[in-house]
Amino acid sequence: MSIHSRVRKVTTHVLHEMKLKGEKIAMLTAYDYSLARIIDQSGVDIILVGDSASNVMAGHETTLPITLDNMIYHAASVVRATSRSLVVVDLPFGTYQGNSREALASSIRIMKETGASAVKMEGGVEIIESVERILSAGIPVMGHLGLTPQAIHKFGTYVVRATDNDEADKLIDDAQKLEEAGCFAIVLEKIPAKLGEKVSKVLRIPTIGIGAGGGTDGQVLVLHDMLGITQEFSPRFLRRYHNLNDEILGAVKSYIEDVRSMDFPNEKEQY
Ligand code: KIV
Repeated sequence: MSIHSRVRKVTTHVLHEMKLKGEKIAMLTAYDYSLARIIDQSGVDIILVGDSASNVMAGHETTLPITLDNMIYHAASVVRATSRSLVVVDLPFGTYQGNSREALASSIRIMKETGASAVKMEGGVEIIESVERILSAGIPVMGHLGLTPQAIHKFGTYVVRATDNDEADKLIDDAQKLEEAGCFAIVLEKIPAKLGEKVSKVLRIPTIGIGAGGGTDGQVLVLHDMLGITQEFSPRFLRRYHNLNDEILGAVKSYIEDVRSMDFPNEKEQY
């Protein structure tokens, strides 16, 4: 019997077991109660309350503006909807880069005020002290390497990362340091598939890829992108499973027509 069909609650330990057995890990984002409820019922292993909420929910161009209070609001809604999946919450930009005390204080707020199971933060060697301090308080940490959207102004573009040898070596080194510091998993975003596979082989902890090829231990997509609610974002790695944009548009247009033609409400739809 596969591990994912046996477990009633996904933990970081379950994810390690899945990697050991070669079972792929499925992760999706969610930011609100209603969608998180459906995602949890689907059997997805990890729900990420990503700071992509800044783009998807608030319409910002980058992930930088979202605040810790915003993330806590989204995460608490998701946790209320979740019984099986492991809920991981992004530490937003500006709430952990200052120093490890600030990183711990932000993580404690997330854990206390949302009931989530872990935090995620972007970066390599520069965040090791913070990872260790957060872990010393018993809070599991997920890493995030490759394309790190909170550093967009440093790079100026969202192109594929670590395409040359030096960058690839640095990424492997960062990944090993995060593992040694105690991270339970690492997201690898938009890097060559060969590198994604190599990092996944070198590490004992699971890797979760987004645009990092099929050799990682799991995959993650932004829910609104894979459902086709968002339309403007179309990177090569994105598989759209639905076109909810058109379905919602069609349903809402039908409603407007029915209101205007006085077809809605009918006899049965009133008291
Ligand atoms: O914020 C987010 O949604 C993420 C995923 C893209 C991994 O970090």
